[in-house]
Amino acid sequence: MKEKQIFVCTECGTEYYKWQGKCDICGNWNTIVERIITTSSKNKVSSLRSPGKLLKLVSSGIKPPERINTGFSELDRVLGGGVVPGSTILIGGPPGIGKSTLLMQVVSSMASNGQRVIYLSGEESPEQIMLRAARIGAISDNLFILTETDITQLISEIEQEEYSVVVIDSVQSVYLPELETAAGSYSQIKEITRVISELAKSKNISVFLVGHITKEGAIAGPKFLEHMVDVVLYFEEETDGEYRLIRVFKNRYGVVGEIGVFRMTDAGIKDVHNPSEVFLTPGAGKSPGSVVSVGLEGLRPFLIEIQALVSPTTYSYPQRVIRGLELKRTLLILAILEKRCGLPLSRYDCFVNVVGGLKLDEPAIDLAVAIAIVSSFRELVVVDNTIILGELSLTGEIKS
Ligand code: TYD
Ligand code: MG
Repeated sequence: MKEKQIFVCTECGTEYYKWQGKCDICGNWNTIVERIITTSSKNKVSSLRSPGKLLKLVSSGIKPPERINTGFSELDRVLGGGVVPGSTILIGGPPGIGKSTLLMQVVSSMASNGQRVIYLSGEESPEQIMLRAARIGAISDNLFILTETDITQLISEIEQEEYSVVVIDSVQSVYLPELETAAGSYSQIKEITRVISELAKSKNISVFLVGHITKEGAIAGPKFLEHMVDVVLYFEEETDGEYRLIRVFKNRYGVVGEIGVFRMTDAGIKDVHNPSEVFLTPGAGKSPGSVVSVGLEGLRPFLIEIQALVSPTTYSYPQRVIRGLELKRTLLILAILEKRCGLPLSRYDCFVNVVGGLKLDEPAIDLAVAIAIVSSFRELVVVDNTIILGELSLTGEIKS
């Protein structure tokens, strides 16, 4: 047992070596108090690790790890071919996006394929979890649920019994009693992640950590966790409604920038194999104002549809309603059309929209936006089966 004196902010849990009047992180005054912490648990876990060995790189005979499939081809793809045993995967995302649903489906599929899984929830009751599991059909003899916020119970469980997959939902809701800070504080999140990922490496257990991020990017966001884990995935609602994207921000076993596309249904989350189908209407490119282009999400190109509606304004100044595109860039394209092509757009309202609710930040679609506007203005249809791509310069030229 080693004792250490630290100073802790009672509001956000940030630790300091010296006392100070104001917390640098949460900005509160007079919230920093003295604490004595004992640091015995750290040594216990570290001792589980086998000592390092010196290997010759050419003859070490280490093979690439066998990967475990998640039951979602989209998720396997973004992970680089499935889950690597012993790796720690952080899934971040706002509340209600579907993290618990996706993970319950993933572990249920893994459990049916013979993995022994323990799912720790610090947020929901067993009834809530059972209800969700029943809704998505996640029943398996190999799947165990633990509803508890004290993480030591999970640690002793995985030390005693053989498990190959562990879920902690969420890392903000659980705590280590040895640290005297509250669940969700910096020190708790950091220490729990360290302890769990070391345990996972030593016992070859794959760990999924759920991390909340709030809209304000608030205090115990999982940002700094990214250094401590092997894979960082972000679950986002790129489109308005049922579609979800998973982006890879970090992957020690694959490439970053990949995205997976999913759909939230009544019976849980489903893979979307051909995203182009989602983001095009059946009549795309077949009426005035509708243009098909290609967007790049991660490393993956897919077809998108841009729609524009241009009509004479009845106001003293024209309306500009832009959805899914950068406003300033679209205004620039309108100015180029007015100045270089002589379209009197300042007397017209312009509505421009990316179908499917996608948000695009891609200069190569400039020309598609311009053509959609011209197509609506002139009431002309673009030649069938055409994809329009190109970045515009201020002089109205298409960049090489
Ligand atoms: P949840 O997985 O609890 O989100 P998170 O863990 O990220 O906070 O799911 C949130 C939403 O998903 C909730 O509003 C209900 C909805 N949902 C479905 O639409 N279909 C389903 O099959 C399930 C289980 C949930
Ligand atoms: Mg949840």
